[in-house]
Amino acid sequence: MSAAWWQGGVVYQVYPRSFQDSDGDGIGDLRGIESRLEHLVSLGIDAIWISPIYPSPMADFGYDVADYCDVDPRFGTLSDFDSLLAAAHSRGLKIILDFVPNHSSSQHPWFLESKRARTSAKRDWYVWRDAASGGGPPNNWISDFGGSAWEWDETTGQYYLHAFLKEQPDLNWRNPAVQQAMYDALRFWFARGVDGFRIDVLWHLIKAEGLPDNPPNPAYRPGMGEMHRVLQLHSTDQPEVHAIAGEMRRIADGFGDRVLIGEIYLPVERLVRYYGVETLGVHLPFNFQLVDAPWNARALAAVIAEYEAALPCGGWPNWVLGNHDRPRVAERVGEAQARVAAMLLLTLRGTPTLYYGDELGLGRVEIPSARVQDPRELREPGLGLGRDPVRTPMPWDASANAGFTTGAPWLPLNGDWAERNVASEARDARSMLVLHRQLLALRRAHPALSVGDLTLLEPGDATDVLAYERRHGDQRLLVALNLGAMPQSVALPGWAHGSKVLLSTLEAEVASIGESLLLRPAEGIVLAPPCRP
Ligand code: GLC
Ligand code: MG
Repeated sequence: MSAAWWQGGVVYQVYPRSFQDSDGDGIGDLRGIESRLEHLVSLGIDAIWISPIYPSPMADFGYDVADYCDVDPRFGTLSDFDSLLAAAHSRGLKIILDFVPNHSSSQHPWFLESKRARTSAKRDWYVWRDAASGGGPPNNWISDFGGSAWEWDETTGQYYLHAFLKEQPDLNWRNPAVQQAMYDALRFWFARGVDGFRIDVLWHLIKAEGLPDNPPNPAYRPGMGEMHRVLQLHSTDQPEVHAIAGEMRRIADGFGDRVLIGEIYLPVERLVRYYGVETLGVHLPFNFQLVDAPWNARALAAVIAEYEAALPCGGWPNWVLGNHDRPRVAERVGEAQARVAAMLLLTLRGTPTLYYGDELGLGRVEIPSARVQDPRELREPGLGLGRDPVRTPMPWDASANAGFTTGAPWLPLNGDWAERNVASEARDARSMLVLHRQLLALRRAHPALSVGDLTLLEPGDATDVLAYERRHGDQRLLVALNLGAMPQSVALPGWAHGSKVLLSTLEAEVASIGESLLLRPAEGIVLAPPCRP
């Protein structure tokens, strides 16, 4: 059986506020994305996941949806969306939208109706409870953005639940009418031609019956963010969520070749259950382990081995290095290792998701306190939890505002935008952009990389090296990554003796490869064995 597009392909995440502005309001939009498709084609990705574009008061920058079946005027119109979709498809690119089912905006007509009166026909569409017997919130659940997960409503004298901001009330997924309304939203976009969805906080959808208190977290330390005071035992990852994921999958499959990607932050053994329990679940439960793993070869080898071993039969792997919620990879591992990280992401087995700007090596962008926008930072300032630094405008060229907008950008640009931008990196053979283009071209040219098997190799004495074989049919490649700052000599397996270098993260060096391979500090290479008759 040949691989599906979402297996062999590479996903690229666009944060729409920050990709390209077309109308001078300083905020990226759909026409802007359409005008930049050439960049994505020349980069060599296959699918674009766009963070939410729906009408929204923007309390959480689009993750507070006020209408699941329309486009926010700041991003454009439904017809702009159709135009983007057609333009992408004509270039062979898929479009994945963001589906935000756990909560709506507090301005969604459903919630406005729900909070009108206790007798409202939509009262049960959200999670309303009386105050605890002694007064105060119904239980001890904490919002992911800090503070109680309950907000008091004066008019009707009850609390409502919000796992995130109070402007993001949780929908009641135990109510079949809510389920149907949300499934209809999926059908609306699938019928328009959307190729898939990334599903926001999928593991949050169902809460334990009776809403018991969550247990305290023994590992909690101040500075971690208040949400970590308790373990989210009863507020997330309930067994009933799998039937819902299964129903979403049934709907997606009904439209043919579509994909569902679940956002799930859980330990591996619980994460992989989202491939399906009893029925099929999502195609790709996001695997965020590279974002959290310590950056050393042995830790990464362990992560890869455990994940591969945990995958259920038929479960296709996937890997993520960065997204709109987590620090930039170049900030976490440094500029030299970011090149190694790119090679890792794009040569592991499974679908990679690449975050916009990471192909330029964008690092940390300082946000002056007067310009902070992210509610996460505003609610718990100074803990380093803010997400603005990873949501800054894409730098395209050295013209005003890096070509992102003719107006005032909603967040500051990266300080080094005059050099670190698409146009100047395209001219520099050693840039991150060129490395990404090379890696993506290599992946496209070698089924061993896009769909082949993976075998980790024993490091021998080269403990800073992460090495693995990728194999498809009789095509075999060897990837070796030096995660350390010292040269490393790697003994090659017999089949790789006399290999040639297909790609190095460093400037090419004419080295002949015999029985071993000398890796320079922070060098990653892809090797192909010689042709043997
Ligand atoms: C997800 C999104 C994040 C958002 C949250 C609430 O984690 O990635 O950006 O704030 O859900 O919707
Ligand atoms: Mg705009």
